[in-house]
Amino acid sequence: MPLPYSKKVIQHFNKPHNYGKMKSPDGVGEVGNLICGDLMKLYIKVVQNKKGQDIIKDIKFSTFGCLAAIASSSMLTDLVKGKTLEQAIGFDRKEIVDELGGLPPIKIHCSVLAGDALIEAIHDYLTKNKKPIPQALNERHGQLAKEKQEVEKDHKTC
Ligand code: FES
Repeated sequence: MPLPYSKKVIQHFNKPHNYGKMKSPDGVGEVGNLICGDLMKLYIKVVQNKKGQDIIKDIKFSTFGCLAAIASSSMLTDLVKGKTLEQAIGFDRKEIVDELGGLPPIKIHCSVLAGDALIEAIHDYLTKNKKPIPQALNERHGQLAKEKQEVEKDHKTC
């Protein structure tokens, strides 16, 4: 029996927003999902606003993930585009699921992929530009790097 997806999920899956690769991104994040082994790549372009804060001017993603991962990533890119990096780091991922009108519980893990890739892209941008990295972001980066290694190891063995 097909999973009960909301109309919004299906719309974002059929016409994902900000899907594809980006030329010369300022930050790139790539993560793997430990539960299903799917991979996600996310690109950001960063500019400064009038207050001198870094903001996400553009964002794109590509994934081999499922319908729920594509719809969630599409929604995330809409929600964080134009936000400051600080706002994007503190972004509540529950918002993605709420805005999509919910996801089947078995698919919630798919909705975290883009958020994790965003954390990695911001970490990449801050590192490349020798900017201070908040401690919580650094810790999460360490966990995600380990998870990605495990997913890639699994891919090699199958
Ligand atoms: Fe892998 Fe959804 S099953 S991202």
